[in-house]
This record gives sequence, C-alpha cells and structure tokens, in this order.
Amino acid sequence: MKKVGILTGGGDCPGLNSVIRAVVRYAIQENYRVAGIKNGWKGLVENDTVELNLQSVSGILPMGGTILGTSRTNPYKKENDIKNAKENFKKMGLEALIAVGGEDTLGVAHKLYKDGFNVVGAPKTIDNDLNCTDVTFGFDTALNVATDAIDRLHTTAESHHRIMIVEVMGRHAGWIALESGIAGGADVILIPEIPIDIDEVCGIIKKRYFRGKTFSIVVAAEGAQFKKGTMVLQEEKLDAFGHVRLGGIGQRIGEEIEKRTGYETRVTVLGHVQRGGTPTAFDRVLGTRFGIKAMELVLKKDYGKMASVQGNKIIAVSLEAAVSELKTVDMEFYNIAKIFFG
Ligand code: F6P
Repeated sequence: MKKVGILTGGGDCPGLNSVIRAVVRYAIQENYRVAGIKNGWKGLVENDTVELNLQSVSGILPMGGTILGTSRTNPYKKENDIKNAKENFKKMGLEALIAVGGEDTLGVAHKLYKDGFNVVGAPKTIDNDLNCTDVTFGFDTALNVATDAIDRLHTTAESHHRIMIVEVMGRHAGWIALESGIAGGADVILIPEIPIDIDEVCGIIKKRYFRGKTFSIVVAAEGAQFKKGTMVLQEEKLDAFGHVRLGGIGQRIGEEIEKRTGYETRVTVLGHVQRGGTPTAFDRVLGTRFGIKAMELVLKKDYGKMASVQGNKIIAVSLEAAVSELKTVDMEFYNIAKIFFG
C-alpha cells in the first residue's frame, strides 16, 4: 500500500484536527496508509510517528489543538537534523508528505520540496498572514474569541467610565485586531503595519468624552509599535525561525493614555486563549476543504503546492509564492475601520 505522511507545525490553532481527519478519511478511501508525524518537523527528525486510521480520527472534529502535537523545530537549522529528516522520510516509505502550518512550517516544506522530496501544504495560522490565500483556518475562531472579549469589556468599561486596552495576537499583521475591532465596535485599532500616533489616539478618546462617551475600547495587536523596529518583547531569545516572544505593548499604550488624558485605564492581554478551544464551524469546514485538497494534490502528484482559498474556491498555489512574503493588512480595509474610530 502507498503511504502518505502528515504533520502539523508551528503555533497550534483550532481547525488542525479537521485537516488531519479529512486527509485520513480521503487517503484511506484511496487505499493509502497514513503516517501521523508527531510534533511537527521534530517528528521527522526523530522518526516519531503514529499510524492514523479511521479510529484515530473519530470524534476529533470539534477538538482544538492537534492530535499530532506540534513544535517550532526548524530542521534546516542544524545539518544533522535535516540529514536525519531526509533519511527518515525515505525510511518511512512516504510517497508524499502533507505539512500543515504557517509561513515557517511551509517554508521548510518548500525547501524540502526544492531538495527533491514530495511535499504539499495546507495553510494554518490565527494571524491570517499567509500569502496567496484569502484566509487561513484558525483565524475565524481567534477572531470570535477576541470579539467576545471586546463585547464583555464594553459593559465593564461603560460601568466604570474606563479606557480598556485589549491586546490581541498578531505579530506582523493586524488582521485579528482589525476585524475583532470592527466586529466589536472598537474606538481605536492599532496594528503592526502603522506606527502608533499616541496624540491621535488620545485625541480620539478625549473627543468621545466631550460628546458624553466616558469609556473607550482600544484594540492593539501585540506587534503594534510606537516607532518601526520598537516591538515590545516578553523575551529577546530567538526561536528556531528567528522570532522573539512579543507581549506588553497594551500595557505601554495604557500607561501613555492614562498619563496624557487622566482617564482611568485597564489592560487585558488575551494571549493564547485566542488559540485554544473548539474551532468555529467556518474553521472546521475550511480545514476539511484544505485537507481534501492537499490529499488531492498528493493523488495527482502535484507537489510543491499548497491548498488555498480564493473567493469561495479551493485552489492550489505554489509553496514558493505562499512563503515569499507575508499578507499584511489591506489599507482600504483599515480605512473602513477608521470611519468608526471615536
Ligand atoms: O503564530 C501565531 C502566534 O499565535 C502569534 O500570533 C504569536 O505571536 C505567536 O504565535 C505566539 O507563539 P508561542 O505560542 O510560541 O508563544
């Protein structure tokens, strides 16, 4: 029997299990065996796999996280790791490998493909910053979590006449901040793509006060910055893909606003709550469609490609194009949000 491998890498997100389930169900129907590679690229380096069958994917559709586990391992970081990964790919007897991940995981998938291995991808990330796809699964769930938090903060902000800063995820792209801010009726939305103008922010808040609105909601992406290149870090240590740990910009913004306006301010950091829990119906359906497309690419031997959604169609794009640059916030979209500021 032919064998296909699947792994999930990078930050987990809701909907990963629907991709795994779709791949397994379709692969078995097509007489393939499925090797579940554990903990992202780490499992390929260490030859850590589990056989996936109908039983293993039963009941996983509503589950958050990934039944395969994940890691931020970059096998190309160490010569020995990539050597082992390539040997294990062969040892496992894989006809092809499906990598489910964001720009880092799919960057490795692309390199592996260039090195002569049969690899395809499926795009995930709550940040929604992957190129060549309208949306990634996981984003919708994170967006709904953030919107729910903003709704809840509204009632307490109004009662106490406070400014509430909500720090959401979004390292280089402010999609979660933008869309949860629009959906939750935020008074200011701060994203990594545009440096923060604190005078403008305070001006908007003061104007609201003068028209009787004695509370405000400010949504800030964790990657928002006062000046380009001044991201607020929790830790400077770089991970295997060269990323630092962000967090804390909400606090800085809150302090500045309180100091300049004199209005009482509180800060809420949503953090990993946005990545956990059960996926929305949208993410389950998108994950399912991506999984089927990825397996279809394997069946057609159309390697080096990634499943993507454009309009309402699931299509294949090259991994190379998908990882070539990040999809940052569209300024036309941001301008819609600005109409509702204040
Ligand atoms: O990759 C998505 C993401 O959730 C980012 O928004 C965030 O900066 C990062 O992962 C957090 O990573 P970790 O789970 O390693 O703390």
